[in-house]
Amino acid sequence: MNGTAINGVNGTNGSPPNDKPTYMGRGQYIQTGKDSAKNTWLIFTPDQEDGSGVLADVLDTFKRNKVNLLHIESRSSKRDEETYEFMVECQSDSGDIPTALDEIKSKASYFSVVSRDYKNDKRKGLDSIPWFPGTVKDLDKFANQILSYGSELDSDHPGFTDPIYRARRKEFADIAFNYKHGEPIPRVEYTDEETATWGSVYRNLKKLFKTHACQEFNHIFPLLEQNCGYKEENIPQLQDISEFLKSTTGFSLRPVAGLLSSRDFLAGLAFRVFHSTQYIRHSSRPMYTPEPDVVHELIGHVPLFADPAFAEFSQEIGLASLGASDDYIEKLATCYWFTVEFGLCRQHGELKAYGAGLLSSFGELEYCLSDKPEVRTFDPEKTGIQKYPITEFQPVYYVTESFESAQMKMSQFAASIPRNFTARYDPYTQSIELLDSKNQILKNMRHLNRELRTLTDAMEAL
Ligand SMILES: [Fe+2]
Repeated sequence: MNGTAINGVNGTNGSPPNDKPTYMGRGQYIQTGKDSAKNTWLIFTPDQEDGSGVLADVLDTFKRNKVNLLHIESRSSKRDEETYEFMVECQSDSGDIPTALDEIKSKASYFSVVSRDYKNDKRKGLDSIPWFPGTVKDLDKFANQILSYGSELDSDHPGFTDPIYRARRKEFADIAFNYKHGEPIPRVEYTDEETATWGSVYRNLKKLFKTHACQEFNHIFPLLEQNCGYKEENIPQLQDISEFLKSTTGFSLRPVAGLLSSRDFLAGLAFRVFHSTQYIRHSSRPMYTPEPDVVHELIGHVPLFADPAFAEFSQEIGLASLGASDDYIEKLATCYWFTVEFGLCRQHGELKAYGAGLLSSFGELEYCLSDKPEVRTFDPEKTGIQKYPITEFQPVYYVTESFESAQMKMSQFAASIPRNFTARYDPYTQSIELLDSKNQILKNMRHLNRELRTLTDAMEAL
């Protein structure tokens, strides 16, 4: 049976219900599934001093091997500004790609397969890595590679038999489906019924925040009330929140039309982008939702993305995911689950909640701080392989002493992920830089030197 007064909103005693929790969890916008990369992308610099005829040569190589090209461009090299490089997208199921790549590689001074359907290529020595977005705009490429459209409801969904709700869900899914990076997120006029649903959850959750939420959450929540229209009588707009987050930590929101794969969802975090729903749960069950909705995203997630240390920790998980194998994606998604979704922290000797799945669920927020669940120290190696239930309260929670310490641990874990490159996020261009050449590393060292000089000057001036 599904939730009556889910998780004890009406006079809870803090015990777990025989019911689904308010936020059922795995419906979060991360699920392992179809990967976003189906085509093969490569970047190379032809090893020819005389540039004439190079393009014809490259095209001929693909033609002879019957490989379909979907995209080709030349650009100045990011590794060596005096040379240029080609970026090519090939259709993975066409022609003899391995031979074509070998031929290109043999005539290239720089060669890298950025993405490919690598499971079908067992050859050794080909340094292939799963595709990942290189710039924030690349998030457009997988935004609509969703595992299920937001308007498709299961038969046990509270809104399944409500045609008005279903039509409304399609409206929200369509907004996200048509969204492109850089555009303002369309504003939504929520109905009185939707706002009433928001209001009843907001009122109930707020009662617990002071005693149950971490101090960072309690510091930021009033700021959202002052700046972003957070209140019982109003569902805040994603665009306003996104602007607020941008001004605090550089995070931004992006509407999402359905379930993304874990790989794609985590890649968004690498760019400080959080994929957010915009619809609200069905009014018949205000304390229950089988999937993330605006209550979960805006009350559970948003506040902490405005905290610098938490933002850094979240981005660390995202950066670790870029180009990682499926096994590691699963471990990282599990770490995300036990931290960003269901994490606890210790502050002034007391346990407090910081996970969004807890902060948006009245019942689990009380339960997680009771003496019923087991509490362990967050350790990505161990936490990343912990199994967890998705339709009931968590039997185990992981505790971190601070977001800084969680970030350090995550950073150490990321270093253990086998990858043949080092990725660095460039906040000026909102892009991922692969540190795979001497010039790039030198450029970054010079930048670091300048920063160090500034800090040294500042310290000396104190
Ligand atoms: Fe979530």
